Amino acid sequence: MDFKNKIVLITGASSGIGRESAIEFAKHGANLILVARRQGKLDEIADELKKFNVTVLVYSCDVSKKDQVKQMSKAILEKFDSIDILVNNAGFAIYGSVIDLSIDEIESQMETNYFGMVYCIKNFLPSMLSKKSGHIVNVASVAASFGLPGIASYCASKFAMLGFSEGLKHELKNTGIGVTVVSPIMVRTNFFDHPSFEQMPRFSPTSLSSKTVAKAILRAANSPRLEIIIPSVVRGAVWMKNTFPYFINPIIGKSFKKQLDATKKN
Ligand SMILES: NC(=O)c1ccc[n+]([C@@H]2O[C@H](COP(=O)([O-])OP(=O)(O)OC[C@H]3O[C@@H](n4cnc5c(N)ncnc54)[C@H](OP(=O)(O)O)[C@@H]3O)[C@@H](O)[C@H]2O)c1
Repeated sequence: MDFKNKIVLITGASSGIGRESAIEFAKHGANLILVARRQGKLDEIADELKKFNVTVLVYSCDVSKKDQVKQMSKAILEKFDSIDILVNNAGFAIYGSVIDLSIDEIESQMETNYFGMVYCIKNFLPSMLSKKSGHIVNVASVAASFGLPGIASYCASKFAMLGFSEGLKHELKNTGIGVTVVSPIMVRTNFFDHPSFEQMPRFSPTSLSSKTVAKAILRAANSPRLEIIIPSVVRGAVWMKNTFPYFINPIIGKSFKKQLDATKKN
């Protein structure tokens, strides 16, 4: 897909991967709809995108609230017949063991990361189907393939996103609408500013820049694949885990559990 003059909606566009994706799409001439809760941050990014001579609209919306998503999509679909690319990127994590997290904290991750994506898809898919074109890009994580101690509920939300995407992709075969999940390893963004990560060591040397992930999101918007894992070498680790779970799971579990125990001691 040539992105020139296409309409791209990005959730979680006020920071990190979403912000960088907006810049990359704008460089390719796409018009953008930026969605997140912080209007001020979205306005700053819209200002920054002026130099690319593309149309940028911003909508403050909490994607975990289905009424807000309905209102936001209604406003957008009154302006445009449909959108061409929907990037479901809004998400967050709360670090901590299941015993220590409250039910509200566990639910909140599912509400934003999983249901936020569902609400956006439910509101924009009908117009994409009428137009017989479009691409849905869902930003998951390698945490969609590994259940990790300390982020069990975050992993659950990303496993759910991957499973939903796979089922939806089958349903949409031959409709002209693609579905692709982008699953990065650790990315250097504000994601880890949540107070629950305070005791965690900062970014690992292998962590990615948000620009690398943004480029993968643009590739995903043109891809027939279900999942793009970045870096691609990590596909091997996912294959190993699925093929030799009795060997791989104890190694992964031990290393992440060690980290969880260390943060509890501090
Ligand atoms: N950083 C990583 O290591 C990493 C790795 C793999 C996958 N991911 C995934 O990448 C995505 C983007 O994360 P990031 O790393 O770029 O983190 P980030 O810099 O913290 O950005 C998160 C974005 O999501 C938005 N957001 C959060 N809750 C929202 C809600 N309820 N409604 C609307 N927008 C909401 C935030 O905007 P407002 O606060 O303004 O609403 C912000 O724009 C997430 O889905 C995350 O799970 C991140």
